[in-house]
Amino acid sequence: MATKIILPESELPTHWYNIVPDLPAPPPPVLHPGTHQPVGPDDLAPLFPMDLILQEVATDRFIEIPEEVREVYRLWRPTPLYRAHGLERLIGGPARIYYKYEGVSPVGSHKPNTAVPQAYYNAKAGVKKLATETGAGQWGSALAFACALFGLECEVYMVRASYDQKPYRRAIIETYGATIHPSPSDRTQYGRKVLAETPDTPGSLGIAISEAVEVAATNDDVKYALGSVLNHVLLHQTVIGEEAIKQMAMVEETPDVIIGCTGGGSNFSGLMLPFAREKLAGRIDPVMRAVEPAAAPSLTRGSYQFDFGDTGQMTPLVKMYTLGHPFVPEPIHAGGLRYHGMAPLVSHLQELGVIESVALHQTETFEKAVQFARVEGIIPGPEPTHAVAEAMLEAERAKEAGEEKVILFNLSGHGHFDMTAYQAHLGGELVDYEHPQQAIDAAMAKVPVVAE
Ligand SMILES: Cc1ncc(COP(=O)(O)O)c(C=O)c1O
Repeated sequence: MATKIILPESELPTHWYNIVPDLPAPPPPVLHPGTHQPVGPDDLAPLFPMDLILQEVATDRFIEIPEEVREVYRLWRPTPLYRAHGLERLIGGPARIYYKYEGVSPVGSHKPNTAVPQAYYNAKAGVKKLATETGAGQWGSALAFACALFGLECEVYMVRASYDQKPYRRAIIETYGATIHPSPSDRTQYGRKVLAETPDTPGSLGIAISEAVEVAATNDDVKYALGSVLNHVLLHQTVIGEEAIKQMAMVEETPDVIIGCTGGGSNFSGLMLPFAREKLAGRIDPVMRAVEPAAAPSLTRGSYQFDFGDTGQMTPLVKMYTLGHPFVPEPIHAGGLRYHGMAPLVSHLQELGVIESVALHQTETFEKAVQFARVEGIIPGPEPTHAVAEAMLEAERAKEAGEEKVILFNLSGHGHFDMTAYQAHLGGELVDYEHPQQAIDAAMAKVPVVAE
């Protein structure tokens, strides 16, 4: 009855997994916002290096992880799979609970799994600087770390609400040598426009993305990096699931339920996609469930429509579950989940019925995360408190039904730099926000109508 199920370095995956060729229906194309025609690689070239653009549209099932990237991955990968003995005792069986722990990376989350290859491919293409946004600060830390390794400059636009809540994430980003600005900022045309219209805005990921995209689009030697949503980001994260498949096999277990929190969909996909391959091939049949906050419920209450990835309408149009690109979420503590859309691939999988989704309130997720910390030791980041809570709820339901379920969830990061959120919870100050239907309707009214 192992507690840590550990893969040796020699078992580090050599390839990322691309689900596209295995899908029963192809994903919808990405559209040019002006013509509503599918974009080609050249349309994306101002923002991304060609290697990443080719991965974005790749049709190969497996893509080799460059040795330079694997060398960096070995700093913390393979990550441990834990059997949650303490949690099982707390709940009182019969569910067997496992979690893949991505918090052992240098910055404390799954984000370097894609930051490292993104920095690598940009450096290889001769790019000098990357611009990006960050919500919780995890992605900004990860890209700053990866840029330091590959000798790139890095400029981070951090959502103002998180910038004010998380001074130590800022310090981490600066320690790795990157520069950081609260968003909206007065450094971009779009940021100045937002500040003029709403000077007190807490900011949003959609606004920060617009600022970083503007910096990349208007400077020849700067490219843009995104920490979630896009196909190539989800692709890089599949190292998580490839390792987890081997680790579950080591203890002769097959998951009945696979759970991950979803902001843009990357950590959930990283764990889920390799299992989805097995499910689509008919070898296993787990329920695969995304967990989102009730304050930003794109998968559970959004519409499956073409929309912009950013608030300033600078990105192409992608078909996804969306709450509307003008969405400015309430400042819940899971900053990385405050996004209006969902990865097109995750959205497509929900449309196909391969995955399902639920929404939870933050008071409940923090309550469960505190119980988890007291028996498992790890303090989850605010985002994965959603995965922890849903896994615990699932185990409680299994207990009531007397079912021997095997539950696997992704613990995408630790919360060591998010302790203001725990302080607020312990002090009874956390409030729940139900995103109002009126706000969804108003934002959706601004989404362009695309003839399909
Ligand atoms: C630890 C952690 N988990 C999850 C997320 C949500 O992003 P994604 O849905 O892309 O995994 C974030 C985003 O910042 C994060 O920092």
